[in-house]
Amino acid sequence: MRVLVVGSGGREHAICWKLKQSPKVTELFCAPGNGGIAQTAKCVDVKATDVDGMVKWAKDNAMDFVVVAPDDPLALGMVDALEGAGIPAFGPRANAAIVEASKAFSKELMKKYHIPTARYETFTELDKALAYIEEQGAPIVVKADGLALGKGVVVAATVDEAKAAAREMMADKKFGESGSTVVIEECMTGPEVTVLAFADGEHVRTMPASQDHKRAFDGNRGPNTGGMGAVSPPPQYTPETARRCMDEIFLPTIRALKAEGRPFHGVIYFGLMLTPDGPRVVEYNARFGDPECQAVLSLLDSDLLDIFTACREGTLDRMDIRWKDQAACCLVLASGGYPLDYQKGYPISGLEEAGKSAVVFHAGTRLGEHGEYLTNGGRVLGVTALGGTLDQAIASAYAAAAPISFQGMHFRRDIGRAF
Ligand code: AMP
Ligand code: GLY
Repeated sequence: MRVLVVGSGGREHAICWKLKQSPKVTELFCAPGNGGIAQTAKCVDVKATDVDGMVKWAKDNAMDFVVVAPDDPLALGMVDALEGAGIPAFGPRANAAIVEASKAFSKELMKKYHIPTARYETFTELDKALAYIEEQGAPIVVKADGLALGKGVVVAATVDEAKAAAREMMADKKFGESGSTVVIEECMTGPEVTVLAFADGEHVRTMPASQDHKRAFDGNRGPNTGGMGAVSPPPQYTPETARRCMDEIFLPTIRALKAEGRPFHGVIYFGLMLTPDGPRVVEYNARFGDPECQAVLSLLDSDLLDIFTACREGTLDRMDIRWKDQAACCLVLASGGYPLDYQKGYPISGLEEAGKSAVVFHAGTRLGEHGEYLTNGGRVLGVTALGGTLDQAIASAYAAAAPISFQGMHFRRDIGRAF
């Protein structure tokens, strides 16, 4: 089969890497891809958000299957458009991808179907939002409704901070229209875990749990990023918690979406907080998390294309999905300054050496004139290693990353250890 993966980050590199292992994939393409992905797939110069351009390219080049990995094209209806043109596509349609594209939608869904989450109110008027913050007190969480590159959430320690966040989103339009509606919610406490699950509209099959590290600096300090590293499975997610999440969160969510006429086919991301009162949903995403994907797919033993096909066709209950009985750690190497301003275009050295003991997924790289790798984004690489225990996986990822360097390189030293 001729398969196209849409996207350009570390997550897409991991998806391409895993799909390439399928004997059914004869040719693999990635649009737009990156420097590292170019070693695994043919990179195609179409933007991930260009729905019409992607459909045209897929049609002109006789794609048999398209995997839409990032949130923006899913929200824009790329899967709907591809399927409409007769091209089988993996990922939720726009009416189901809304679980990520609108926090107000997903909070209402959870309320209606009694899925545990933080108490909240939704606002479109600034003065009402400010009055609610005043009434509730701090700590309190202010969230832009729409997509904001994972940065539209402020966990405010004081009432003034919360009010400033609401003003920036609603009046100053810091996130454009994404912030014209805000959700203000109760601040929860407890460890956070991610559970990614395959869904076929009706059935849900969880992957091993994982844990992202969203803050830029050690000790969970500094600004939020797209994710500085991930481990799988995290020790806090016990079999008992997993059973409870399946009964109280995963199945009810998939059933709720089906009941609403929005069957979810794809990967659904459950961002959970294990609070003293039990597991609660922090957020849904309509796709693999990045960098959770890199850690979790490294543990998959089954054919990913078969699983994607089953998600699309509604046959997930019959799939035999196997996972390695190991742990994984993905350590992100980022550009100096990320997630704020950073420079790019620096040469990267040590990749070959690192590749001997880990899989190095490329996130923000490009090939230079002489075939050398150059930095080309905030998150540059995701060094991913396995181990018999989580400690061993973490140690292997750090050891493998040691030879890699580029100007300004920055990474966290406590991936898998900051709880
Ligand atoms: P989100 O984009 O909704 O995942 O939020 C980003 C981060 O903000 C989460 O990973 C949490 O660390 C934090 N967060 C979001 N909502 C809450 C909440 N209700 N209580 C505490 N922390 C939260
Ligand atoms: N790692 C968090 C996300 O992909 O949203």
